Amino acid sequence: MDVVVCPDPDAFAATAADVVVRALAARGAPTLGLATGSSPLPLYRELGRRVAGGVLDLAAVRAFALDEYVGLPAGHPQSYREVIRRDAAEPLGLDPALVRVPDGSAPTLEQLTARAAAFDAAIVAAGGIDIQVLGIGSDGHIGFNEPMSSLSSRTRVARLAPRTRQDNARFFRSVEEVPRLCVTQGIGTILEARHLLLLAQGPGKAEAVASALEGPLTASVPASALQLHAEVTVVLDEAAAGGLRRRELYAGPITL
Ligand code: GLP
Repeated sequence: MDVVVCPDPDAFAATAADVVVRALAARGAPTLGLATGSSPLPLYRELGRRVAGGVLDLAAVRAFALDEYVGLPAGHPQSYREVIRRDAAEPLGLDPALVRVPDGSAPTLEQLTARAAAFDAAIVAAGGIDIQVLGIGSDGHIGFNEPMSSLSSRTRVARLAPRTRQDNARFFRSVEEVPRLCVTQGIGTILEARHLLLLAQGPGKAEAVASALEGPLTASVPASALQLHAEVTVVLDEAAAGGLRRRELYAGPITL
């Protein structure tokens, strides 16, 4: 695992953007895994700046989002379809026809489940994801894989943990409005991406980051599954790195 602790927001954004650009370069049909949340916003802004500046072109990139709420009406500003369009697809200049978000709108559990399986199969059919961007929940979740999710889970309908609903209540009028269900790429699905990029900022993530990186591999901390993956980059600010006890071991990528 390459763990990079960045001294300031510009370094955070540039480091993350460089990792994405490197992972997508030289791929015939580049495929990017997008995350929602505040953690990837500096990355999207930096990639958007490079696209606007003409030094980067992502128009041919295929993209898959990590997760979606179940049951929000089409066009709801907090549906991840909308968030991905606003925060990622538009600034990055992605082709909307190449961006796919899990479908949380089907009326029955059977249909939601079938569409989740179809989403999972579409990732495989596209040749897999070259680089998957990830945030981390304060409870250690990745995507919406809450603690006790199977480490080999696939894209599926899942429940949101009470703590996640509380954390995400800031985007709704009240916690009651936060959906109880979601569709999320599974941990097994996420682990199939060729490269994983975990981004975290702020003291609220310090404990989850330390458990994920330095704790045991356990379904209690879904992000600890990253320990199973051979190509992981973790980009942190000082506050999110605040709980790490083995800082001397995180020297960043190997260079000669
Ligand atoms: C949300 C999303 C996750 C995201 C996480 C952290 O619930 N489903 O994909 O990584 O929580 O969000 P933030 O980056 O805003 O802290």
